[in-house]
Amino acid sequence: MSILGWYVVCCMGGMILITGANGNVGTELVRRLHSLRIDFRAAYHSTERAARARAAGIDSTVIDYADSGSLDDAMRGIEKLFLVCPAGPDLPAYEANAVNAAIRAGGVKQIVKCSVWDAETEAFTIARIHRQSEKTIEYSGIPFTHLRPNSYMQNFVNYFADPIRSYGVFQIPGRDSRCSFVDVRDVARVAATVLLSTDRLDRAYALSGPEALTYGQVALKLSNVLGRKISYRDIPDEEFRNVTASHGGSSWLADAMIELYHYTIAGHGADLSSSVQEILGQPPTSFDQFARDYIGAFRATKPRVSA
Ligand SMILES: NC(=O)c1ccc[n+]([C@@H]2O[C@H](COP(=O)([O-])OP(=O)(O)OC[C@H]3O[C@@H](n4cnc5c(N)ncnc54)[C@H](OP(=O)(O)O)[C@@H]3O)[C@@H](O)[C@H]2O)c1
Repeated sequence: MSILGWYVVCCMGGMILITGANGNVGTELVRRLHSLRIDFRAAYHSTERAARARAAGIDSTVIDYADSGSLDDAMRGIEKLFLVCPAGPDLPAYEANAVNAAIRAGGVKQIVKCSVWDAETEAFTIARIHRQSEKTIEYSGIPFTHLRPNSYMQNFVNYFADPIRSYGVFQIPGRDSRCSFVDVRDVARVAATVLLSTDRLDRAYALSGPEALTYGQVALKLSNVLGRKISYRDIPDEEFRNVTASHGGSSWLADAMIELYHYTIAGHGADLSSSVQEILGQPPTSFDQFARDYIGAFRATKPRVSA
């Protein structure tokens, strides 16, 4: 968007509410709108994080998707809503609570929902919960834009940076599947562009990166950037269940992720979407660029202890 375009948008007013403000996409979206001096409110789940953001000059509030009162407070004066909720069995009910609060608030003119890749197929549990929520939004009568990102490149930071740093390995029950991983920063840029425009209503966009990679190729790319060998270990589903449980993840999440891995192994995660290019006017971020930008997260900070 041109500088004049941003200026016009800024003058349009219209407060934006960003949920999941300390999450993957939310953090990047807050950063982007803050740097553009756009009028927005950041909704945190944690009181401490909201207080920290407030101290940094960001209009912040605390919400709990199970607490309609908190959602009503957060929606006051809102014209646009960025809706993101953790994947879980409660997602349809939680997001319905947010949609109902948006209806009660009266002035909400657009909901931009962070959905998931291939939600429309309803072929796996996470797709089904997201599609159920997309339908709730569609039936609400509020104009919507569904963003359907593929698996995030940043998952390698959030879930695998520790074993990569310590042992040079990441473990996934991914077999030799290929996935068109997308950079969270691109998802946030797309969300910002969509929130700040009026011409992408009642549409859904699949969001992918520029290439479909196997986990072996990901390991090679990380090795090249880090200058040391990083390996991918394909693990049995049962081992993934145990690892998830040992990190405090629910059995619902472990099963849903295994289902998603199987969907990807069947070849459904490798398609490339042109939406990032079309909406941003520039190609999506490559995995090589992502790895270079996040190199600090993967670098061993202390000498590894040999066995
Ligand atoms: N990760 C991926 O690769 C990926 C790809 C495509 C789509 N998605 C979808 O994106 C969504 C978000 O996933 P994510 O992994 O990126 O998570 P995330 O946005 O990084 O984290 C979820 C956010 O929701 C907040 N939250 C948690 N419980 C809440 C509650 N009861 N009320 C209000 N806010 C609450 C969390 O705050 P606290 O941290 O303070 O609790 C956090 O900011 C999921 O629905 C997922 O299916 C994820």
